Amino acid sequence: MKLTTWISGLLLFVVSIGVAIAFSHFTTSYSPLAADGGYSRTLSAAAAAVKFPSNYRQQFVHYATVDCPNSGVVRQMYIDRPSLERLKASEAVSNGAVIVMETYSVRRGDGNRLVPTQLNNLFVREKRQGWNISNSGGWQSTWYSPSGSLVSDSQSSCIGCHIQVRDRDYLFTLPALQMAVRTGQTQYQQTEFGTSVCR
Ligand code: HEC
Repeated sequence: MKLTTWISGLLLFVVSIGVAIAFSHFTTSYSPLAADGGYSRTLSAAAAAVKFPSNYRQQFVHYATVDCPNSGVVRQMYIDRPSLERLKASEAVSNGAVIVMETYSVRRGDGNRLVPTQLNNLFVREKRQGWNISNSGGWQSTWYSPSGSLVSDSQSSCIGCHIQVRDRDYLFTLPALQMAVRTGQTQYQQTEFGTSVCR
């Protein structure tokens, strides 16, 4: 084979790889639904993730504590106060609501209760018109570390499980939230679900 033929063959090969990479980038950024099995998408830079609610300890209301005895985890749920106030007049959670779930490792306390020791994760969901995420009931999900760094803003795993409770506005603890609004008391319960759910 002549050297020039060989070099032009090589060039053609390199160019076609380049085109293939550019094309796959183009198609994944324009059809993100496909990668997520049709549920949703990983957030693009254009749709910012739910912000880390750095003030939730002061400004949110702790409405429920859920023990997960099988996995040795306690989960604590908080909602922003204006959304809690609006629930006094309406059973439905309003747009703008932000719910934070903390998850803790535990030690065994008196009776059956678990005592939180170390905070490990913050799971945040915000309800808003215009997120445009399918099967999420208007909620967007984000997972943060306790220090506020983003762990994941992929929507699909969160939606895949929360869709089971679409009749409760996609919130597992909606009944506890409504009871907390009626009574003014933080609700306590054990998880309705098996080991794998809690971390
Ligand atoms: C395998 C199922 C499953 C997956 C996956 C899951 N959750 Fe949940 N989530 C639950 C359950 C169950 C509860 C209620 C607490 C309990 O029983 O432990 C809950 C509760 C919550 C709550 C409190 C409000 C509510 O719905 O009760 C938030 C906030 C939350 N999850 C966020 C997330 C985020 C963010 C993700 C994805 C990173 C996620 N969840 C993924 C099962 C799941």
